[in-house]
Amino acid sequence: MTDRRTFFLSTPIYYVNDVPHVGHAYTTIAADTLTRARRLQGRDAFFLTGTDEHGQNIERTAREKGVPTQQYCDEIAAVFRRLWERLDVRYDRFIRTTDDLHVRGVLKLWGRLIEAKCPDGRAAIYKGTYAGWYCPRCEEFKDEDELKQPGNLCAIHERPAEWTEEQNFFFRLSAYEGWLKEEIVSGRLRIDPDARRNEVLGIIDQGLKDFSVSRARVKWGIPVPQQPDHVLYVWFDALANYVTALDYAADGALYKKYWDSATAERFHLIGKDILRFHCLYWPALLQAAGVPPPNREFVQGWITKEGRKLSKTTGNVIDPEALVERYGPDPVRYFLLRESTYGQDWDFTDAAFVGRYNSDLANDLGNLVSRALTMVQRYRDGKVPPRGAHIVTLESDPILASYEALDFAGALIQVWAAVTRLNQRIVANAPWEMAKDPHQTTRLDTFLYDLLEGVRLISLLVHPVMPRAAGRIFRMLGLPERDPGPEDLAWGRLEPGAPLGAIEPLFPRIEKEKTVPESDAPPPSAPATPGTPPPVPDRIDIADFAKIELRAAVVIAAEKLAGSKKLVKLQVDLGHEQRQVVAGIAESYAPEALVGKKVVIVANLKPAKLMGVESNGMVLAASVDNKAVLCTFDADVPPGAKVK
Ligand code: MSP
Repeated sequence: MTDRRTFFLSTPIYYVNDVPHVGHAYTTIAADTLTRARRLQGRDAFFLTGTDEHGQNIERTAREKGVPTQQYCDEIAAVFRRLWERLDVRYDRFIRTTDDLHVRGVLKLWGRLIEAKCPDGRAAIYKGTYAGWYCPRCEEFKDEDELKQPGNLCAIHERPAEWTEEQNFFFRLSAYEGWLKEEIVSGRLRIDPDARRNEVLGIIDQGLKDFSVSRARVKWGIPVPQQPDHVLYVWFDALANYVTALDYAADGALYKKYWDSATAERFHLIGKDILRFHCLYWPALLQAAGVPPPNREFVQGWITKEGRKLSKTTGNVIDPEALVERYGPDPVRYFLLRESTYGQDWDFTDAAFVGRYNSDLANDLGNLVSRALTMVQRYRDGKVPPRGAHIVTLESDPILASYEALDFAGALIQVWAAVTRLNQRIVANAPWEMAKDPHQTTRLDTFLYDLLEGVRLISLLVHPVMPRAAGRIFRMLGLPERDPGPEDLAWGRLEPGAPLGAIEPLFPRIEKEKTVPESDAPPPSAPATPGTPPPVPDRIDIADFAKIELRAAVVIAAEKLAGSKKLVKLQVDLGHEQRQVVAGIAESYAPEALVGKKVVIVANLKPAKLMGVESNGMVLAASVDNKAVLCTFDADVPPGAKVK
């Protein structure tokens, strides 16, 4: 049954003191994926992200850059928006804490708090004096024992904390200990993963301290109406974005629908660095102000690079802009969500990126789509064949449930199991054999229809992670490119007789960069074996060479020839046709390693039988120490391209 609750999802709003890094991209991509998955389930969803622009640290950074603060914020906020656009992140609102809508909302929330009473009847906000160590980068007071000595350094930023003494407004968090614990234990506020929930409960058990919600020394912020030379604490200001963006200020329709409703799911994605603010401060502030608190928070893990914390000083930052520039949005989104267990720390390596790209995207998914569509082009004139029995079982519910649990890798593993099943089904059923036999027309129709439906369902289920690739598959299937909904998940939606779109390559393989150091490479004219003069072969005329038709082909299936150590039977795709070729390369390549490879075929060779099996062409390979090394390409070429 469809869940009728509205679904509100937010990322943290990011500081504009620097351009976005991959950690920001990770959270935002996860949020975009989750929103799309919820919509695929039929949920009415709202996805919010934005930028956190007030506070001492940003004021200081702008000053250091010599740019007026607002202009500086505008510039960096634009960089965030551009990155989200490039990554196909589709938010419903981008909130900036310098927006007027936000400022009005913050002031309304503050107004409610100033008048609010705690559960014990005392005022929720009171004036007090704060004296303590303040880290401007965390925008947070630190306990003495949290600092690193010598130098009173913030343990996170390794920069000196500043001794600060001032008269502030305080929020009486200590009065909400019991309420917070009850919210979490009862599950009204669900915090995942469990370890993080326990961490929050542990913090409550140690006793909560009141915190100050105004700052005397900071200028760049929202002035406190009761004391205009103070500004509201940047964390209070920032947390409020989750409701101000929905027009809390005017009790707007979005606020009523996605936040202030008994049937609203209010969900925050956060990093472990900001747990305390989101799981303690924020719910308590809202409870005091009479606004419904969030009901779900998920704490994501940390990305490291080759085992080290991402940091500009060690030079191991991962630039998300550069990644999208090079690979496009889908592989970046896919890798971040497939490689990690969401909620756990994990390590980013370039090798893993290229490995996943080539094996999962170029080989598994890319080949499935190109094989399926090529066969329909070839055997059914590019039209959807008649429907037959439904053979393929692709259960979408468990996959959607994995998305819902933020188990992105789990969802993708299940989709890829279906990709593999379909690829194997193609090999096992050898549709190219059916195509030769007029008695098998119906069987081939049924097989191809079911295969196309399998591809369609797979594209729907990868859509949350790779919306662009999914859209391209829809187009190739002749379907309009639109956001899918639950009605699309039923089998059999392709209309028999409808024309398919043009086939385009989905994920061209990434070839490994040449790594042979200059000094090891033989000089261009050096003989292969030192001391042996190069053989002078009989030369042929260009006209002789022109008789040989060489073409690029993709291996779509490979299996060892029974009874032979050397021979392997390949099905290759030459763009306009598929063929069977027998090659003597079994001792050098495992059949599964051949699938997806782009090879060179002698296409106009007379068919021959090898060990009783027909071979229709020949694969080119070098022979080195009796090992075959296949000729391949160092950039992507379409199957069928002429080689000359
Ligand atoms: N402005 C505050 C949040 C206010 S929300 C009301 C802030 N901003 S931030 O720019 O520092 O972004 C923090 C978030 O970025 C983290 O909570 C996390 O989601 C993400 N990440 C930052 N670095 C990260 C990694 N190295 N790895 C994974 N995610 C990390 O805090």
